[in-house]
Amino acid sequence: MRVHNFCAGPCTLPLEVLEEVQEEFLDFRGAGMSVIEMSHRSPEYEAVHEEALALFRENAGVPDDFTILFLQGGATLQFAVVPMNLLGEGSSAGYVRSGTWGKGALKDAAAWGDAYAAWDGEPLSFTRMPADDELEIRPNARYLHLTSNETIEGIRMPSFPEVGVPLVGDMSSDYLSRPVPWERFDLVYGGAQKNLGPAGLAVLVIRTSLLDETNRDLPSYLRLDAHAGKNSLLNTPAMFAIYVTGKVLRWMKELGAVAGMEERAARRSGAVYDAIDGSGGFYRSPVEPAHRSHMNVVFRTPSDELDAAFLERAAREGLRNLKGHRSVGGIRASIYNAMTDEGVDALVGFMSSFRDSMAEDPAG
Ligand SMILES: Cc1ncc(COP(=O)(O)O)c(C=O)c1O
Repeated sequence: MRVHNFCAGPCTLPLEVLEEVQEEFLDFRGAGMSVIEMSHRSPEYEAVHEEALALFRENAGVPDDFTILFLQGGATLQFAVVPMNLLGEGSSAGYVRSGTWGKGALKDAAAWGDAYAAWDGEPLSFTRMPADDELEIRPNARYLHLTSNETIEGIRMPSFPEVGVPLVGDMSSDYLSRPVPWERFDLVYGGAQKNLGPAGLAVLVIRTSLLDETNRDLPSYLRLDAHAGKNSLLNTPAMFAIYVTGKVLRWMKELGAVAGMEERAARRSGAVYDAIDGSGGFYRSPVEPAHRSHMNVVFRTPSDELDAAFLERAAREGLRNLKGHRSVGGIRASIYNAMTDEGVDALVGFMSSFRDSMAEDPAG
């Protein structure tokens, strides 16, 4: 039996995709071998690779003057790769320190070059994102780095800053669930293991003209121009992750690509926020309402004990992985693109019955 899996990543994937993978696993399209046993230079794999790149471009509406790269090392390696490629002598980079991941990106960039906190949400316990006029943009800033959705704290940027410097975005946890104003961005990146597919793949999209200016003085795997020159086949790519991602992208296209996913995310997270707001104060969200994540809904019951009881009962009812990140506790429902409407309905129904049962029998 499949449960409703609210894990923050890796996470639930469309059942149709998993079944298709299972079906063609032993003999991939008549090759007599699986996709993970064949050469990454074989025509069969090359077709998979090209199709996944094309479908990503189509679904995300990536303009022709951007290059899409399939990389490894997750989003975490891109924390280093981005400044290494873009940040040169005499320039700085502003980082929005909006939560755990924004903090991590800044730390890694500062290990390489002149990176500073353009805004720090820590004094506010990371409960909102900054307004544009709160961002410090230094005269020598090469880019402003943002985390469009902070997965752990459950906050998102409702819109992207307009601050006169190019943006760089870590979109790991809301990739392809919202449109990107590409004209404002030089680069976006994210790990695949939430909205796209299995772990092991990071997708980085860079304005192609920048590939002539990136730092050349780096080992080859760290050079974005080197990956671009080889169409993301500089070395053996994460073939299985790319193959499954291609299938997820095809599934997404049928559901209306990014516009369809955006509507779906607003509607489904909205149902859970309504359950929180309509609970008479039983459930509480720490996040400023306009900045509530559409992917990771973070909330609490009146006590740690009730949080634990909620999680335990929910798990028994097939609602799994609802525990908040170990650093913040509480409850977190991650409602990525592939979560089913049934899963969300089941969660909302459970929230209501759990609250009612506590009103009747507070000892639980
Ligand atoms: C917003 C964000 N950035 C970065 C990361 C790190 O990603 P990875 O595990 O792919 O390195 C995560 C992981 O959850 C994330 O949510």
